[in-house]
Amino acid sequence: MAKTIIGIIGGSGIYDIDGLKDAEWQAVESPWGTPSDEILTGSLDGVEMAFLPRHGRGHVHSPTTVPYRANIDALKRIGVTDVISVSACGSFREEMAPGDFVVIDQFIDRTFGREKSFFGTGFVAHVSVAHPTCPRLSDACETAAKDAGINVHRGGTYLAMEGPQFSTLAESKVYRESWGCDVIGMTNMPEAKLAREAELCYASVAMVTDYDSWHPDHGEVDVSEIIKTLMGNADKGREMVRRLPALLGAQRPPCPHGCDRALEYAILTHPDA
Ligand code: ADE
Repeated sequence: MAKTIIGIIGGSGIYDIDGLKDAEWQAVESPWGTPSDEILTGSLDGVEMAFLPRHGRGHVHSPTTVPYRANIDALKRIGVTDVISVSACGSFREEMAPGDFVVIDQFIDRTFGREKSFFGTGFVAHVSVAHPTCPRLSDACETAAKDAGINVHRGGTYLAMEGPQFSTLAESKVYRESWGCDVIGMTNMPEAKLAREAELCYASVAMVTDYDSWHPDHGEVDVSEIIKTLMGNADKGREMVRRLPALLGAQRPPCPHGCDRALEYAILTHPDA
């Protein structure tokens, strides 16, 4: 059994986590650049934790400029085994209402302005992301959210858009009606793909702030409404995180879904191979 280290990547509104023992902000160097911020380490219920604010404290990175590779690499370097992404999203489903959480299981990646792989020059790897999230970790997120009294939906397709502008009405309708997406956000890609390349279990909890622009009764995205909901969601997100260590435990067996061995099943090329 290996030691569990839970990594939390916090989105808009979440810039730290509560109740950490021996809490310390640590600078972690990465050859992939400077991570979004220092990493807050400590323990919670006897389980080691590492928290990284995706946009940096002070929200200095836009979704496009978040250093996704440096972030995932820095978490891997300090021994993180399980990454839980917490982020804001818009909803394409009436029943996924503002204030609800969605445990994502699929993505459509429409981002285009970001570095998306650790592999490229000299060494190429093609990992499978057919099932981009870890069901074991997603189970824990669903249970933690339910235990925190949050209205949580299990499973959903997340459209990752480049931003920073929100979608046009036409785009919103295509994503919802033709592509069958459930939620939309700007940050889960390429993060999820990079976590798979780094052989880290990854789960994503998307916190609904709005109905994007498709909903006839809600009109276009209203930023002041989003911010109000986001603050409430951030409190709930912290409540969920507090419950995760007890559910995941301090020791972990190999991932039953193989997330931690993704490169064993990848197509790898190397100039000397
Ligand atoms: N984040 C929160 N709401 C969003 C929306 N409607 N579109 C994209 N990202 C979002």
